[in-house]
Amino acid sequence: MMNKRNVFAAVLMLSVATLLFASDGTDGVRMSLRADDLVVVQAGEKIYQSQCASCHGVSLEGQADWRTRDAQGYLPAPPHDATGHTWHHADDLLFEITKYGPAAVINDASYITRMPAYQGILSDDEIIAVLSFIKNTWPEEQRAWQDDVNGTDPTDSQGRHKKRSSLIDRLLK
Ligand code: HEC
Repeated sequence: MMNKRNVFAAVLMLSVATLLFASDGTDGVRMSLRADDLVVVQAGEKIYQSQCASCHGVSLEGQADWRTRDAQGYLPAPPHDATGHTWHHADDLLFEITKYGPAAVINDASYITRMPAYQGILSDDEIIAVLSFIKNTWPEEQRAWQDDVNGTDPTDSQGRHKKRSSLIDRLLK
């Protein structure tokens, strides 16, 4: 028999898992990137340079010491290249972070961040384009990992499970 505390813990873990991995995210719409469509990618590169490069770097290199919060409690902008962790996240999660901002995605209005929410600034198509450009720059290994997180490689459920666990570890730290 499960006692009350165990039931509570199980429900909590289930909600966290659902929050992180629900494929349709917080808005119920699943968006997919188009990293192999070079017209989309080229448009995305222009948007990247005008909207994102000031923080995430002209070569997607991010800001110095991006893992350490500054004196005011803000994280610097992480890289979007292979050294960062953008490629750990599924297409739809990247879309939602960009459109709604991190605080909305983790459902914590008190979370402070310098990452803007682009809803009302960029259209959905423009957000898809800029993220498709970012994805297009990743080496084969990161592309394959991220495809797996997206669930597009049905043969690798074991690997995906491991990656999901490490993602939970990281996000809950
Ligand atoms: C004013 C600075 C700034 C600008 C401009 C900016 N970002 Fe960010 N971005 C951040 C910061 C800081 C974070 C780290 C989030 C946090 O504070 O927890 C971040 C995080 C992200 C993440 C999550 C990465 C991860 O690995 O978890 C994505 C995706 C992202 N930004 C995309 C974009 C895109 C796309 C643009 C341009 C359309 C953009 N950002 C413009 C500062 C910025």
